[in-house]
Amino acid sequence: VGRSGLAVTGLTRVGFVGLGIISETHLAVLADLAQTDLAFTVDPAKDHGPDFRGSSVDHYPAMTDALEEHEPDLLVIATPTSTHAQLATEALSSSEARILVEKPLVHDLQALDEVAGLGPALRADQRLMVAHHFAFAPEVRWTSDLVDRHPEWGPITAITAAFYDPYVLRGEEAFASYGSSWLDSGINQLSMLTRFVEPQDVMGRQEDDGGASAWCTVRYRHRDATGLARLRTSWMTGSSSKRTTLTLAEAGVEVWIDQTAMTAFAARGDQLLASYGNDGRTPRKIAHYRPLYESILAGDRDPAISLSTALRVTRLLHSPASLT
Ligand SMILES: NC(=O)c1ccc[n+]([C@@H]2O[C@H](COP(=O)([O-])OP(=O)(O)OC[C@H]3O[C@@H](n4cnc5c(N)ncnc54)[C@H](O)[C@@H]3O)[C@@H](O)[C@H]2O)c1
Repeated sequence: VGRSGLAVTGLTRVGFVGLGIISETHLAVLADLAQTDLAFTVDPAKDHGPDFRGSSVDHYPAMTDALEEHEPDLLVIATPTSTHAQLATEALSSSEARILVEKPLVHDLQALDEVAGLGPALRADQRLMVAHHFAFAPEVRWTSDLVDRHPEWGPITAITAAFYDPYVLRGEEAFASYGSSWLDSGINQLSMLTRFVEPQDVMGRQEDDGGASAWCTVRYRHRDATGLARLRTSWMTGSSSKRTTLTLAEAGVEVWIDQTAMTAFAARGDQLLASYGNDGRTPRKIAHYRPLYESILAGDRDPAISLSTALRVTRLLHSPASLT
């Protein structure tokens, strides 16, 4: 067994639970990673799983049945958020696998307390990871490296992120799948923040448009200073758009990140300091999930997907909101 807790000889056997929209990205990435094999799929709404590298794999209606037959090294849970806590708890107690749960970790504070209270006997802190994929976006990692390389720029004094998804016409279906704009995108913003700063407390949060839009302010620490992140999410939009700006006021530096275009640049006054351009070859979700899986398979134990980070950002996600 290697650093990752996964078998070092042979392939990493993956069990996949929940064959919805996002499973297509996961399975495309896994099929491309030579060191993985898909052992089984689980979904009560499907008679069979998709072919994997041209072959069929064992399929089960319930995870319990699959874990009686298989001993996967890695179990991926990509089911609706309201099922994550129960399935993750069952997976921890009925297998030895490492477990990657889709984001957000859980749907409410009670479920969060249940997961946080899982005993050390199940080694949840070592085995459970959350797919905070925005933290692996190439432009986010580029920005994080850039700021790390410039301590002379001083602290990040302010952050503004605006994430829009055109789900308003999907109506109730969007609420059923994603809870609200904040639950769906706020977790991406909060987990992305952990690449740059240490988020501390939610200062205020409001939901409007019946939950289709939100505004949240988060106090964070960076380089011995405190700053404020302003987070806007909304489904009231004509198209998808995700942008973030970082301000490093002491140095007069601004970093503009466009997560839709997977690009970024840093500027000071009239000067372009650095830029990141994308080669356009890799679709956005693959560009997030491929490095996430590579990190797991390499045994990196990246803090962005650790259980302790997930508990911290998911608690901020579920902080009380006022409705306007
Ligand atoms: N869709 C996205 O772009 C996206 C991106 C990142 C993360 N996520 C997260 O991934 C999760 C799934 O999202 P989705 O969009 O794929 O949802 P989805 O509704 O398209 O798919 C969920 C699938 O899980 C299955 N399922 C339900 N209960 C199950 C159970 N007990 N065991 C096995 N399968 C079960 C359903 O039949 C369905 O096929 C959510 O937590 C979401 O927040 C989604």
